[in-house]
Amino acid sequence: MKVYIIGAGPGDPDLITVKGLKLLQEAEVVLWTDSLVNEELVAKAKPGAEVLKTAGMNLEEMVDIMVDRVKQGKRVVRVHTGDPAVYGAILEQMVLLKKNGVEYEIVPGVSSVFAAAAAVGAELTVPDLTQTLILTRAEGRTPVPEREKLHDLASHHCTVALFLSATLVKKVVDEFLSAGWRPDTPVAVVYRASWPDQKIVRSTLETLGEDMRAHNIRSHAMILAGWALDPDITNRDEFRSKLYDKEFTHRFRRGITS
Ligand SMILES: C[S@@+](CC[C@H](N)C(=O)[O-])C[C@H]1O[C@@H](n2cnc3c(N)ncnc32)[C@H](O)[C@@H]1O
Repeated sequence: MKVYIIGAGPGDPDLITVKGLKLLQEAEVVLWTDSLVNEELVAKAKPGAEVLKTAGMNLEEMVDIMVDRVKQGKRVVRVHTGDPAVYGAILEQMVLLKKNGVEYEIVPGVSSVFAAAAAVGAELTVPDLTQTLILTRAEGRTPVPEREKLHDLASHHCTVALFLSATLVKKVVDEFLSAGWRPDTPVAVVYRASWPDQKIVRSTLETLGEDMRAHNIRSHAMILAGWALDPDITNRDEFRSKLYDKEFTHRFRRGITS
């Protein structure tokens, strides 16, 4: 018996993986992050399952329950928003589970970064423009290591996805501008990606603060910045990959010979 740490996806209950849903439906005990996971998804747990909200629990309380139920021979799932590996605070749970001799397995989920990219119809790694995506956050109450300051990350001029940063926009903009980003660099903000009340705000670095205030976005938002987010990019035909280039051969396709 082990604890399954499952990614619930960004909100839409259909965006959980088939494996995650199966485990949720088989579980006798479900612990879920009620501040971010969709209740409709948790409602798919089997009738009679013990379903517990974790937002009001501390780490030890949560892990004690998991350990206790696993030791009773019950199937336990711990449901996290998006993908558990990104700002999921799962390491501390795994450490305590291990200390208690309980095994665990992680089942990935669709992170909000990808739900947000899908909502705005963007490719985040555009050939000849950027081949790198940085997932990060602005520094607020949670410190960020010195070598990962936004200013330094921004110096790569790639696509940057900012989690947990909706209230720190001024700081974000200042750091990007000081790293040499143009004020008209496109930024897309997706509030509650894949939820029925999802909002998309297309902005630029120089108008980001104003636009987020105007739309009253202060939490639960993904900020995607960089030229890959240019709303006009689908009208341009200059960024093509080698993968489908007719002159480019690879293991699965021969070049066109005429
Ligand atoms: C604690 S982190 C969890 C991230 C999650 N593990 C993931 O992979 O999406 C919470 C932050 O993720 C982002 N987030 C989570 N769900 C979101 C959604 N549906 N739409 C936009 N941003 C979301 C927001 O930046 C929020 O502040």
